[in-house]
Amino acid sequence: MTAAASLPIRHPPLSRALAAAARAVAEVLAGRTPEAALAAAADEVRPAARDLAFNALRDFGRGDFLLARLLSRPLKDQKARALLLTALSRLERRPEEAHTLVDQAVEAAARPFKGLTNAVLRNFQRRRAELVAAADADEVASFRHPRWWLDLLRVAYPDHWQEIAAAGNGHPPMTLRLNARCRLASADFLARLAETGAAGRALDETAILLDCPMPVERIPGFREGCVSVQDWGAQQAVRLLAAQDGMRVLDACAAPGGKAAHLLERHDLELTALEADERRARRIDENLVRLGLAAQVITGDARRPANWWDGRPFARILADVPCSASGVARRHPDIKWLRRAADVAAFAQTQAAILDALWPLLVPGGKMLYCTCSVFPAENGEQVRAFVARHPDARRLPTGGELPELQLLPTALHDGFYYALLEKCP
Ligand SMILES: C[S@@+](CC[C@H](N)C(=O)[O-])C[C@H]1O[C@@H](n2cnc3c(N)ncnc32)[C@H](O)[C@@H]1O
Repeated sequence: MTAAASLPIRHPPLSRALAAAARAVAEVLAGRTPEAALAAAADEVRPAARDLAFNALRDFGRGDFLLARLLSRPLKDQKARALLLTALSRLERRPEEAHTLVDQAVEAAARPFKGLTNAVLRNFQRRRAELVAAADADEVASFRHPRWWLDLLRVAYPDHWQEIAAAGNGHPPMTLRLNARCRLASADFLARLAETGAAGRALDETAILLDCPMPVERIPGFREGCVSVQDWGAQQAVRLLAAQDGMRVLDACAAPGGKAAHLLERHDLELTALEADERRARRIDENLVRLGLAAQVITGDARRPANWWDGRPFARILADVPCSASGVARRHPDIKWLRRAADVAAFAQTQAAILDALWPLLVPGGKMLYCTCSVFPAENGEQVRAFVARHPDARRLPTGGELPELQLLPTALHDGFYYALLEKCP
């Protein structure tokens, strides 16, 4: 054995990960994305900091409830408050680590807040049973979603709104999509995966659900463009759109290009990928290059076709519109706390404007697939019913079985997605 091999692995102290996580939580609560907020963390602490920060954000409604009972007055310093939120989340999730955690949180606190951090966390430990019981009896603290969000879920899903909220607090599955052009059978891919020490199972011909998430650079075939990461719910778009070789297709809200790439892996298409955000549009190009695929990528607003459309109609349109992302809250725990109830109505208005603007671009007999990653009816069924009422030449087609819509709720297999297929009467 070499000297290097015999050295014990040294993990950076938990206090550094806690400090980095707390900084990120404070920034996210001020409006930054978690990715941008965590970019400042040192490489060796980032994975642990990410885990701590994401859990603190998942648990924010509960942490906020507990802090209101543990502090005699609101704490103005947002970093000190974020450290307490992060530590409380960890204390509840890992009670067996309480002693170390409190020491490390005090170490992580800025000098003026060391005493307060120690007092609040030890107080929580002392009053744990009473505080946990109170939090469990409070809806926002126990379901860890804002009240308006829970109210929307309860009205839409009276029998299982609690399960949807619980799924929104869980850890998301990691699912891969095998590039059909690589002709890699799922059994062969699973064998190559096993060689790396990882495991998964095939959900269909090209979807592989991993037993545990893993870094993309370790996924066999990723670098070569034979494998991509894409939730199984998102993978349903291509099947439902049912494009055929040679068709002219518009992906109207395309970045980062997951569904556009999936379409091109399956069919030879003349694909236009439209995206309003120029920076995000560049990600479509990057993804297509990695996969060896080609499309016409345009930066433009789907509500204003006059600015980018060449006048030739499309046989298929995918409208994967901007939405509340309420079906993928477990991947983006910040959105639960940064969105407001009014945002849902604002998204619904934009979605209606996009649908109305795209409809004239569809050839008679053509199909448009409307898609969101939301579970709120205002963005889904209500949106599509209103659209059909405004457009007498629109007919709803089944999306599996007899149903005219597919509402996937977040589960261990996929995220929350909504699909409705619309045909333009010739
Ligand atoms: C749900 S994401 C699309 C995901 C993409 N289809 C995929 O599978 O990778 C919605 C995208 O629409 C873009 N967007 C928002 N408003 C838009 C508009 N008015 N016109 C075109 N794109 C828009 C957003 O920037 C975002 O990238």
